[in-house]
Amino acid sequence: MPESVTGPSVFVQTWGCQMNEYDSARMVDVLAKDRGATRVTRPEDADIILLNTCSVREKAAEKVFSQLGRWRDLKEENPALVIGVGGCVASQEGHAIREREPLVDMVFGPQTLHRLPQMLDNVADNGAGTVDVAFPEIDKFDHVPPASAEGATAFVSIMEGCSKYCSFCVVPYTRGEEISRPFDDVILEVVELADQGVKEVTLLGQNVNGYRGPMHDGSVCDLAMLVEHVAEIEGIERIRFTTSHPLEFSDALIDAYARVPELANDLHLPVQSGSDDVLAAMNRGYTAAHFRERIARLREVRPDISLSTDLIVGHPGEGEEEFEATMDLVEAVGFDSAFSFVYSSRPGTPAADMADNESREVKRQRLSRLQARIAEFNQAYMRSVVGTRQRVLVERESKRGDGQLAGRADCNRWVNFDAHPRLIGQFVDVDVTEALDNSLRGQLVIHEPAEVGPSTEAEAVGG
Ligand code: SAM
Ligand code: F3S
Repeated sequence: MPESVTGPSVFVQTWGCQMNEYDSARMVDVLAKDRGATRVTRPEDADIILLNTCSVREKAAEKVFSQLGRWRDLKEENPALVIGVGGCVASQEGHAIREREPLVDMVFGPQTLHRLPQMLDNVADNGAGTVDVAFPEIDKFDHVPPASAEGATAFVSIMEGCSKYCSFCVVPYTRGEEISRPFDDVILEVVELADQGVKEVTLLGQNVNGYRGPMHDGSVCDLAMLVEHVAEIEGIERIRFTTSHPLEFSDALIDAYARVPELANDLHLPVQSGSDDVLAAMNRGYTAAHFRERIARLREVRPDISLSTDLIVGHPGEGEEEFEATMDLVEAVGFDSAFSFVYSSRPGTPAADMADNESREVKRQRLSRLQARIAEFNQAYMRSVVGTRQRVLVERESKRGDGQLAGRADCNRWVNFDAHPRLIGQFVDVDVTEALDNSLRGQLVIHEPAEVGPSTEAEAVGG
């Protein structure tokens, strides 16, 4: 354990999406507040190791047990080491995890991470393992300490769970049904983050346009209204949200894109398939035509919005014709980028019991075709940004260690450019000069001060 640390040191291994990253940060917050814990970056340095798991795809449980096996030596060297498994696999497997791997002391779900201190006490007092994977009503939000900002961008969880029950997806079973966080709590958290210098927030949830936040006057706030209120908070200059669902992509939300300039010019809207039959089998609740109509309306108010999506290839019921419908949709919409996956059967979901007649090989070939087309769209999009001026929020020094800074443009793409590190945390203008596969390069725009002041030095400021 490092000498300066007073509380226990905690190592968190995270698998999964932004939601899981967010939960991992909250686990550390809970333990920091209650136990004075500090996060460490190597499991060898930890008193507590937490594995935050995701079971959306892959052979999730097997991956968990092989990771635990790799930590067995650490536990043998230090029997006081506490090992916890949290997240979606924990939620699904519960007691079975401890039965199969007794070195695990704690098993907790996405909704019980705020009870980590009690679980630790239980382990210390009784020397007994503890399993807590319940879905207490929104309890988690009330007991997790307020978010602390680590830079100019922050995630703010506005809802938990999902009630859409897509045929293929484990989330409703592992995270529970949708529960929205009260409006006042969300606003207070954003105000506190803004006070700490946060300029960009991403409103987070599995299905954020299902947000129905109770307000103090008894009414209910939807995502469109929430975005408008967040935009009014002093210091907040950019707002993103993820993930949303095409079914609830309302006119009100499209109007928010027209009215709220703080709403970033990018949207991630998972479509999953372009075939109406497959969409119906997936229980998505919309047709390809509905999706296209929503995008067309959105483009009326934001013609140059950057669009990305999620696509699943090889869901039960997808034959050649259905796959072609997905290719057609991709062509018609022209997504700038997409995450695409081969369908993976998840135990306990309705799709796991559906007849699946396509071979793995056919599905892989379809995925390659789809990904090749998406890569072309991505390259075309990146090239289209060359020559434009982008407003970039500088987040950090470039990971390449070449002294450049890296920030994200409104369209959510990374932009690297030469500038002094004092600009980290600021909005700046960058002229994009080059497109790489996954990032852009550019030149900082130096704005001359409007009036001659005491300093004659040119200043770099945001647009
Ligand atoms: N809320 C989002 C939506 O509206 O669809 C999705 C959240 S889900 C956790 C993230 C992505 O994982 C999905 O969009 C889907 O493409 C993919 N996914 C989920 N379950 C999957 C499965 N069984 N096989 C393959 N991909 C899956
Ligand atoms: Fe999963 Fe569908 Fe909800 S993909 S997270 S059940 S919208």
